[in-house]
Amino acid sequence: MEYGISRVVWAGKALESAANLGLIGCGARNLIWKSPCLLTPAKCPFMIRAPMVENPPAVEIRDLVKDFKTSFRRKPLRAVDGVSIRIMPGEVYGLIGPNGSGKSTTMKALLGLVAPTAGQCAIFGKDSLKVDSRNEVGFLPENPYFYKHLSGAETLRFYGKLCGLGGKLLAERVNEMLALVDLESARDRRIGGYSKGMLQRIGLAQALIQEPRLVILDEPTAGVDPVGSRQIRDLILKLRERGITVFLCSHLLEQVQEVCDHVGIIFQGRMIREGRLEELISIEDQTDIVLSDATPELIAQITALVETTPGAAIVRTGKPRTTLERLFLREIREEEP
Ligand SMILES: Nc1ncnc2c1ncn2[C@@H]1O[C@H](COP(=O)(O)OP(=O)(O)O)[C@@H](O)[C@H]1O
Ligand SMILES: [Mg+2]
Repeated sequence: MEYGISRVVWAGKALESAANLGLIGCGARNLIWKSPCLLTPAKCPFMIRAPMVENPPAVEIRDLVKDFKTSFRRKPLRAVDGVSIRIMPGEVYGLIGPNGSGKSTTMKALLGLVAPTAGQCAIFGKDSLKVDSRNEVGFLPENPYFYKHLSGAETLRFYGKLCGLGGKLLAERVNEMLALVDLESARDRRIGGYSKGMLQRIGLAQALIQEPRLVILDEPTAGVDPVGSRQIRDLILKLRERGITVFLCSHLLEQVQEVCDHVGIIFQGRMIREGRLEELISIEDQTDIVLSDATPELIAQITALVETTPGAAIVRTGKPRTTLERLFLREIREEEP
């Protein structure tokens, strides 16, 4: 159980609200707002026009190392060993690796929930150790803990309030999120009676309640059946359409392949391979052509053409296969009333 960490933004929000109310940071705020008016280049000849600032990466992890103390006098356990990850805004990045390879620890370091032994993490250019780096982040932990006596809608209201939302805006966001995760019909049911798939979806809804620009999902489909994990996969695709950056980790490779555009493979704390998914899995010297309703004559013509072309060869012809997952989902859908 990960008590108290399913929501990590509230402190940042509180800080921001305090700044908005003028409780803190007024001096800095005034400086930021007033200096451009008072010190234009014409009035101050020494002032240099600032260059256009490039968008910082959504996630920047540099040479992260995390050691955990084990027992007294034993060597510490190195859970993460020199991992670097850069995710640009709008990308969907999947970190894959076997259990115990350091995926959750990397995510927790990024969220400032564990202090790195070495290396730095930043979110939208802000150091992860600073609370305001979490302002625009939603997080679904590996084993989210929710108050079982609250209903789905109450749970979302609770997390929305922690993020500083309230009134009509909060009510609208709760309805919108329940619709997004397809839990409108279960909105007034107690969370204690939710299935694992429903729990993961309400977890996703709480991670999205304050419209974050970055969503971090630790094993979002763990323990969920194929129908539930398909729903979660579709949700991640919806987030991608909206331009939200997603950083997820999983050991379900097929799912990662379906939603991610960048992938990192982590093993025993080390990043062993990283890059664009298309580049990692494409076979450089081969091309797929999938035909529909091709007659045997057409196939014979294509084969003859390839045979007369120097250097080219047909590697395989035949019917494309579906996956077991797709077959399962199709059969279930056909059985549904
Ligand atoms: N709080 C902790 N104290 C001691 N060891 C830990 C702690 N958290 C994780 N570990 C260890 O660090 C390693 C990586 O764990 P984790 O990041 O949870 O892996 P993954 O998410 O890839 O399954 C594991 O060997 C795990 O036992
Ligand atoms: Mg984990």
